[in-house]
Amino acid sequence: IVLFCIVIAVKANLIKQQDNISVLEEYIQSKKSEVNHRYKLHYHVTPPVGWLNDPNGFSYYKGEYHLFYQYYPYDSKWGPMHWGHVSSPDLVEWKQLPTALVPEEEMCFSGSAIADGDDFVLMYTGRINLEDDLFYESQYLAYSNDGIVFKKYEGNPVLASPPNNSPHFRDPKIWKHEDYWYVVIGSNTEDERGRVLLYRSLDMKTWDFLSVIGESNGDMGYMWECPDLFELDGKFVFFFSPQGMEPQGNRYKNIHQTGYIIGSFDYETFEFVPEVDFKEIDFGHDFYASQTMEWDGKRFIIAWFNSWEVPYPEGEDGWTGAMTMVREINLVGDTIIQKPLESMLKLRERNIWTGDLKSMESVEFEKTGEVIINGDLSQKIELLLEGSDGGESAWLRWDPEVGKVVVDRGVAEDVRQMEWVPINSTSWRLFLDASSIELFCGEGEVVFSSRVYPDGNWRLTNLSTQNLDVEAYHLRRSIDE
Ligand code: FRU
Repeated sequence: IVLFCIVIAVKANLIKQQDNISVLEEYIQSKKSEVNHRYKLHYHVTPPVGWLNDPNGFSYYKGEYHLFYQYYPYDSKWGPMHWGHVSSPDLVEWKQLPTALVPEEEMCFSGSAIADGDDFVLMYTGRINLEDDLFYESQYLAYSNDGIVFKKYEGNPVLASPPNNSPHFRDPKIWKHEDYWYVVIGSNTEDERGRVLLYRSLDMKTWDFLSVIGESNGDMGYMWECPDLFELDGKFVFFFSPQGMEPQGNRYKNIHQTGYIIGSFDYETFEFVPEVDFKEIDFGHDFYASQTMEWDGKRFIIAWFNSWEVPYPEGEDGWTGAMTMVREINLVGDTIIQKPLESMLKLRERNIWTGDLKSMESVEFEKTGEVIINGDLSQKIELLLEGSDGGESAWLRWDPEVGKVVVDRGVAEDVRQMEWVPINSTSWRLFLDASSIELFCGEGEVVFSSRVYPDGNWRLTNLSTQNLDVEAYHLRRSIDE
């Protein structure tokens, strides 16, 4: 009888969650038509309506790539977190799926996903707010066997913040090594220095603490969010998003950072030994809370194409937040290079221009474009990107005397710039979408991802004195909402 009652209770719970999701999906469908599409991206994941932040659960399950995202469907600002869900055959064409997790007692904060045989498992942080700014963060599981409908585990939470730790204990990133599941979790010390903790488990339900993977000595921020630890080209890479680092020259100019430390990691001692200092992975204005996944021998990265505490113009249009395009990463020396995927070539719908840009003055893109620029780096390069009907502009510059690439949105204190020493190729590859630019220099050793809001179409003009060889394409839409 007890077993019978449990089965009924579990089923009732699942039905309740599915009911909530059906009502929510109807709501999303009905609100979609009210969204203003002027800045909506064509080949980057955005929420159909409402708010999106971190990428979650970036993974591969039963023949498809999956990506989840921090989601609040009811407003274009942050609210009690759901998990939105998209899937893709190739990390370029994306299809919206029903919302995967809805908040109940707990808000569904960031986490990861992994295939375990036939099961698709989500591990996420359940955040419970109490009175007077007190809260709990612990780790929860949800299971699916079709990759669409997820059922929260009845034994949740499976891992609570340890004693002598602050309540900030979130963003589990899970992986498997030999017989064990491992997870890294973002946290901080009681005196507010960011740190990341490592655990392992045989069944994902009981976890043993192993080690502190990294901890700020005081000048690396008060909280480390969204950690990730993996092997890449013979080294270990420890990724995290520190909050509260002070700007230093051209570095750490965004409110919060995302970057990595290269080192070694030992599965016997569970010690991560850093070999080089923390480096940002992207030098643009908008790139945070990245997540990586490995499939088919390749390591892919995606990030939230926004930042906290920045007002984004799309908020007025019924949505806020996007994902960067997926990039493949590799290690060259002690630098991670980011490359656009091969499958992005499928989006090239038509060639708009090939040849010297000066002789045509400017090229106009219908919302989206890809531009390959071969410049002579011994001379200055200056390109202007502006809206055909006004709105925001951006200048891209290279000055051989200072050896830096500059992305300037027209506000002096907001300029982003970084030294560029090409490791091989000296060309630029630039991706434009309705309100975004992604500039890959050389092999992707320096990348800038920034949101920019032109009105109308993009217009690209060469302001350099030198001629610039340009190949320009229109890119087709690849998001099915
Ligand atoms: C990172 C983050 C995570 C948290 C989530 C909440 O941007 O603050 O640490 O889980 O967003 O939406």
